[in-house]
Amino acid sequence: SELDLVVRNAQVATASDTFHCDLGIQGGRIVQLGLGLPAGRREIDAAGRVVTPGGVDAHCHLDQPMEAPARMADDFDSGTRSAACGGTTTVIPFAAQHKGQSLRAAVEDYHRRAEGRAHVDYAFHLIVSDPTPQVLTEELPALIREGYTSFKIYMTYDDLKLDDGQILDVLDVARQHGAMAMVHAENADCIEWLTRRLEASGKTAPRFHAHSRPMLVEREATHRALALAELVDVPILIVHVSGREAVEQIRTARSHGLKVFAETCPQYLFLTAEDLGLDDSYKGARCICSPPPRDKRNQQVIWDGLADSLFTIFSSDHAPFKYDAPEGKKPGGEEVAFRHIPNGIPGLETRLPLLYSEGVLGGRITLNRFVELTATNPAKAYGLHPRKGTIAVGSDADLVIWDERAVTLRNEQLHHNVDYTPYEGIQLQAWPALTLAGGEVVWDGQNFHPRQGRGRFLPCATPSLLPSSRR
Ligand code: URP
Ligand code: ZN
Ligand code: ZN
Ligand code: ZN
Repeated sequence: SELDLVVRNAQVATASDTFHCDLGIQGGRIVQLGLGLPAGRREIDAAGRVVTPGGVDAHCHLDQPMEAPARMADDFDSGTRSAACGGTTTVIPFAAQHKGQSLRAAVEDYHRRAEGRAHVDYAFHLIVSDPTPQVLTEELPALIREGYTSFKIYMTYDDLKLDDGQILDVLDVARQHGAMAMVHAENADCIEWLTRRLEASGKTAPRFHAHSRPMLVEREATHRALALAELVDVPILIVHVSGREAVEQIRTARSHGLKVFAETCPQYLFLTAEDLGLDDSYKGARCICSPPPRDKRNQQVIWDGLADSLFTIFSSDHAPFKYDAPEGKKPGGEEVAFRHIPNGIPGLETRLPLLYSEGVLGGRITLNRFVELTATNPAKAYGLHPRKGTIAVGSDADLVIWDERAVTLRNEQLHHNVDYTPYEGIQLQAWPALTLAGGEVVWDGQNFHPRQGRGRFLPCATPSLLPSSRR
């Protein structure tokens, strides 16, 4: 039977290979790879163009309920729209349990938020904030079996954080049931103590957010998380690693034989603490996220970790809040002390173009390493590979065709529901010319092609990055 679509003369890059071929697509999957494929019902010419797997953004927050008045700017409609236009075809946001809620109820709530709204496929990580005996012995094991095979643990934020004993309990469930535990590593008590001290001397402008969370608080919590994982004997994944001191902890743990994975994000390559303000201007609220961006030297440490094998995954940590809005960075319409400013920045749409431009075309990482960090490894880490994260016969037809041209990044060109991008005015050297999700064109280089409900829920298998004895 005739192919639905043939993408011709692609320069295909996977995590391990680069090769020249046509891609035959049928029923939303890649069914043939090879030169001189027969004509398809539809043809796309990719001559002279690099084609990579659609991005897998394994760390993004969409429509996650917040304490009033804060409200996330992107839901599953605008968030997945923005993802698609930036070349990302799979998102893994978080189903967050709030204290007192069952984990099951949190998952059901998230399904209601996503169902029929997403333009690209999605899975969920869990956030475990209330590890009751019921959660530890029944809910979490059952949910892992049902395809929620990863969860995030917070060491900071009053409404989410776990103490060390709780972390040990939750890590033990990950060990017993083969789940991936992600850890947000910052020392909550240090942050609170520093915040009070800053407030007592009137230092409440946005830039002091960075002063309240110096790298020491990340280093200490990273060290502690690694020690707790060693005690339980389970691999963990440290998310949003910001700079040298956390990197050193991870390298040391690995050299002692611990299985530890690490994630970083664009903000630690392209922003510094100066973006939170050189003076007491409120504008810096736009770049408030945690851990905060560091300095130029730490940016280089993160680049080095992307180039060598330190980092496993490159995610956006998209946590979208409008700047000039009472539900965003100006709670109730006011310029408030940094403690009260919602944490997080948008980045779903800009993640791939930023790394492709500055990483691949800037000569810092290979094209294959780009694919590994942005698609293949996240798919493997969360049990979606080989359906997602690669270009192979049988994989979903999720692709990006790259257009290597100069682009000045402007928020007005983006498709999220946020009134700014932290990367306004940055010069890029590439943008997706086309994004294919399940064999359908979702972005053609000019226009977004909406189809809510195209994106479907993906139950996750056991992470294939975990040691085989755990699978
Ligand atoms: O500031 C951030 N990163 N907000 C999002 C939540 C998180 O901790 O990842
Ligand atoms: Zn089990
Ligand atoms: Zn976090
Ligand atoms: Zn996050």
